Amino acid sequence: MTRYSRIAGTGSYLPPRRLTNADLVAELALQGIETSDDWIVERTGIRARHFAGPEVNASDLALQAARHALEAAGVAAAEIDLIIVATSTPDMVFPSTATILQHKLGIAGCPAFDLQAVCSGFVYALTVADAMIKTGTANKALVIGAEVFSRILDFTDRTTCVLFGDGAGAVVLEASDMPGILATDLHADGKHVGILCVPGTVSGGKVTGDPLLKMDGQAVFKLAVGVLEDAARATLAKAGRTTDDIDWLIPHQANIRIMQSTARKLKLPMDKVIVTVDQHGNTSAASIPLALDAAVRSGKVKPGDTLMLEGVGGGFTWGAVLLDY
Ligand code: UT7
Repeated sequence: MTRYSRIAGTGSYLPPRRLTNADLVAELALQGIETSDDWIVERTGIRARHFAGPEVNASDLALQAARHALEAAGVAAAEIDLIIVATSTPDMVFPSTATILQHKLGIAGCPAFDLQAVCSGFVYALTVADAMIKTGTANKALVIGAEVFSRILDFTDRTTCVLFGDGAGAVVLEASDMPGILATDLHADGKHVGILCVPGTVSGGKVTGDPLLKMDGQAVFKLAVGVLEDAARATLAKAGRTTDDIDWLIPHQANIRIMQSTARKLKLPMDKVIVTVDQHGNTSAASIPLALDAAVRSGKVKPGDTLMLEGVGGGFTWGAVLLDY
């Protein structure tokens, strides 16, 4: 019998502090940074984002999202035999946020590791978990995207600080004799490292370089719209499906204009696209599982629906996962 991986439950968590564009505009104005609700909405579609408190780490957000996903799946934490956390804002340089989360979940023994592919992190992590389940290395995996991007934002740079938010999304992915994940397609091209990066690290007991996010927004935008169409088509071809088979497109939530452009290229109406960027901002690796969980809990995504998840971001990395929910 063919062994597949299938999503058994989803969960998410947003820290309680919610800033509307008006709230952020007012805070930035105090520092002499000028922006507006009109500019942010028109150029990005973002209306609000959540920021974690200073004492809250990625593993704390991941813990809440994981608990919700476990509950939805009817799976006990003790049954989990693989944890992958996609994050670019880990609790520490090491050990991984996944091991910290494992301990917070009250379990021990199963493999736990972080995966770093910036905003493509969740589709990368889902692809790795799918492969590990298909080969029998794992049976029940927690796959999580968790970010505290507010920590790495330069609040004197209006071109980036209005775009991002904090949050976490999780799925329980389990072995099944029914297909779940149908096909995956991952890519990276390191020549674009400089267009989206945090060019700092720790060395000799100090932070070296600049540990704040830098982005050439237009360069990222142009690359993103091209590769998202390619990844979707490649994934469909691998699965022997067509765009007509897609019930819901769940793209990385960075900018409504990128989502509209991708949908147009794939000839999908916007009412088949899950949009949460308006309420969450760009939460990097957390954005797709946050959007997925919102769509499941609102009743939009139903059992049996075919979903195309698509990520794109720093690296440059991109990829897609086609699945039957
Ligand atoms: O998660 C990883 C993937 N990331 C992305 O997908 C982000 C991709 N890029 C984007 O979403 C867009 O490029 C941005 C939203 C970042 C920028 O939108 P844009 O339409 O490319 O704007 P722009 O950078 O061309 O800037 C247009 C104008 C500039 O003024 P001038 O030079 O035309 O006078 C900026 O200085 O808008 C100005 N501007 C702002 N004005 C008010 C830039 N940021 C702001 C701001 N408020 N926050």
